[in-house]
Amino acid sequence: MTKLTFFTFIVLATSISFIFLETPPKSFYHTLFISDSFSDNSSIANHLYTLTKRPHVAGSQANADAAAYVLSIFTSCNIPSHLTSYDVALTYPVSRSLTLKSSEKTIKFGLFQEIYDGDPYAEVANEVLPTFHAYARSGTATGPVVYANYGRVEDYATLREMGVNVSNTVVLARYGKIYRGDIVHNAHAVGAIGVLIFTDKKDYGGEKWFPDDKWMPPSGVQVGSVYDGIGDPTTPGWPSTGECERLSDEEVDEGGNVPLIPSLPISWADGDAIIRTIGGKVANVDWQGGKDSPIYRVGPGPAIANLSYEGQQVISTIQNVIAVIEGEEEPDRFVILGNHRDAWTFGAVDPNSGTASLLEIAQRLEKLQKRGWRPRRTIILCNWDAEEYGLIGSTEWVEENREMLAARVVAYLNVDCAVQAGDFRASATPQLDELIILASQQVQDPDNSSQTIYQSWLASGNDTTVKLGRLGGSGSDYAAFVQHIGAPAVDMSFGQGYPIYHSMYDDFVWMKKFGDPMFHRHVAAASIWGLVALRLADDEVLPFNYLSYAYELQKSAEHLEAEISDKGISLVPLYASIEKLRKAATRIKNDIKALKAKRSRASMRELNDRLIMTERAFTDRDGLSSRTWYKHLIYAPAKHDDYGSKSFPGISDAIENAKSLNSSDSWHSVQHEVWRVARAITQASLVLSGRLT
Ligand SMILES: *[C@@H]1O[C@H](CO)[C@@H](O)[C@H](O)[C@H]1NC(C)=O
Ligand SMILES: *[C@@H]1O[C@H](CO)[C@@H](O)[C@H](O)[C@H]1NC(C)=O
Ligand SMILES: *[C@@H]1O[C@H](CO)[C@@H](O)[C@H](O)[C@H]1NC(C)=O
Ligand SMILES: *[C@@H]1O[C@H](CO)[C@@H](O)[C@H](O)[C@H]1NC(C)=O
Ligand SMILES: *[C@@H]1O[C@H](CO)[C@@H](O)[C@H](O)[C@H]1NC(C)=O
Ligand SMILES: *[C@@H]1O[C@H](CO)[C@@H](O)[C@H](O)[C@H]1NC(C)=O
Repeated sequence: MTKLTFFTFIVLATSISFIFLETPPKSFYHTLFISDSFSDNSSIANHLYTLTKRPHVAGSQANADAAAYVLSIFTSCNIPSHLTSYDVALTYPVSRSLTLKSSEKTIKFGLFQEIYDGDPYAEVANEVLPTFHAYARSGTATGPVVYANYGRVEDYATLREMGVNVSNTVVLARYGKIYRGDIVHNAHAVGAIGVLIFTDKKDYGGEKWFPDDKWMPPSGVQVGSVYDGIGDPTTPGWPSTGECERLSDEEVDEGGNVPLIPSLPISWADGDAIIRTIGGKVANVDWQGGKDSPIYRVGPGPAIANLSYEGQQVISTIQNVIAVIEGEEEPDRFVILGNHRDAWTFGAVDPNSGTASLLEIAQRLEKLQKRGWRPRRTIILCNWDAEEYGLIGSTEWVEENREMLAARVVAYLNVDCAVQAGDFRASATPQLDELIILASQQVQDPDNSSQTIYQSWLASGNDTTVKLGRLGGSGSDYAAFVQHIGAPAVDMSFGQGYPIYHSMYDDFVWMKKFGDPMFHRHVAAASIWGLVALRLADDEVLPFNYLSYAYELQKSAEHLEAEISDKGISLVPLYASIEKLRKAATRIKNDIKALKAKRSRASMRELNDRLIMTERAFTDRDGLSSRTWYKHLIYAPAKHDDYGSKSFPGISDAIENAKSLNSSDSWHSVQHEVWRVARAITQASLVLSGRLT
């Protein structure tokens, strides 16, 4: 060792101990985390480019390669990381055909998406799966076509009023209002034998289209899953590990979550060609297409469609990538960030805009660690697989680790499509509202450096406060965390919905041209996602506010009251339980103040546990009466739309049943469900107040 380096060593050691003595407050690191010097839009762009070079559907080698890439980035950030694999039932298309026979002609549809001149991905386009619906029933359906608008329950009521009999027909519905699995399910319920779902130009198109504009090209097809459940259909409620128990095909059918009639997704060009052959009554004004469309009629027929689909179910290996930064003081409390990796095609928006942001977070956390930061609680970064098929990777992991997670998760923070071109939006369990709003006031708006995300978020609505959604739907990987184990959670993105969704055109070119040309939105997504995580990981007292929960419950109860005012159902127990929660939420605020004055560490932990475990108390071991996997009595998907979010789903299910039966027993069970919810909210208020009766 030369004198010089020895001297350098002394200086270094001195400055390190100096830094050690002067450890900055956690908030110093949080500010650093969102600073320009920590952000790197070109590195995010690089991650996205690398992840989306090839189509990478769940179960493919390309997606295993993408997992290896994510793992290598986590590892290069010095974060201990591993793969967690499951063997799950996925389906792939084997053959498809669609013909339409009218008196004049027979049309045979090609069912492929066109490659445009100069497409840099032309060479790998053949790796995109043929357009199909995952878990669609194999079979052939031949029958006259009925146009059913968006395929909702109310659309079939309209058809019935128009005197249209849907039985034994092939339904043509358009995408856009409800989950596609429910479109197929609703059609089957009224006797249809097959379903075609098209992308209407009115909803996804424009005068020009990709690559000249952001809109869906005429041949573009939205593929996707039509499975109505969550997790591997052959292992409901338990993990798909190794040689585990599996349901038979018959048992899966009996579960009621897989479609029983065949379906195909089609382009707007093909949908338009079919519409032109449908006769019968003219459809209502709000069922019509956009400018330049033909007049939409409801049918049936006279043209006869012949839809044929054959799929193959394969037990495939999927891989979650899990990275764990252990907490310094409370390693057994977990703050979990999650995003999925698998994509129907290239996945530039869905989901790898989120994956690129997650990798950026890992890199910024490494920079913080180099400056001496350690999280108080454990931070876990999760990159899920097979989300597109039915939230499978996240659900299997939650099912496998259920008891440990139920005891230790502080919150789950989901970002699926981080950047879809549009304003910031967030949906959350209500105790997180305040924290999300605070974080949005600290991060710069990516489209206007003179304001914060909060300001543009506020301006995008028409109220004096920002609007937060709730997490009852099952649109992404938060579902198992919220609805199965009762973890506080948030789901965030810039924009909601984009025209080339689940088509072959969701690639890096689209993102660079239309989604986020400078990758500033990706940077902002990483900033707000990471900042929320840092507050939850580092704050001594968890930044949860249950007064917003009580407020939301009160609003939902009033909404419910208006819906069933004349049915003789008493909501007195519900209102009383909400009042108890409100009181407990006020009391814990006072407890926090008192504790802060005394600084008693043991009690701080007890107080935080109350804040965490209150959300768990909204779950019930037995689950919803007709959908027992769903344990949360406040938030679950709407029964006829998996994307729709319902408050008090058990009460809603019972009301729907009672409305159709109109028996005193059926109305009595509505009252029973009201009592169940009231008891859960009462349990939550006891946990929050931390006092035995
Ligand atoms: C609808 O058509 C089917 C035959 O396709 C028939 O069995 C059924 O009775 C019809 N329903 C009504 C309400 O007309
Ligand atoms: C429908 O199409 C399938 C597959 O091309 C074919 O096997 C079948 O014969 C067709 N059915 C009718 C009634 O045309
Ligand atoms: C940017 O934000 C500032 C401050 O809110 C506002 O006055 C201005 O109009 C915004 N600019 C654009 C282009 O939206
Ligand atoms: C504006 O407010 C009205 C009434 O509250 C609401 O129906 C509408 O959806 C709001 N629009 C937006 C863009 O938030
Ligand atoms: C990153 O942002 C800067 C401007 O802040 C821009 O010049 C650059 O092109 C961006 N990089 C990428 C890859 O978009
Ligand atoms: C439901 O039943 C009640 C009492 O039996 C009756 O008054 C009411 O008209 C019924 N409602 C409907 C929609 O059938």
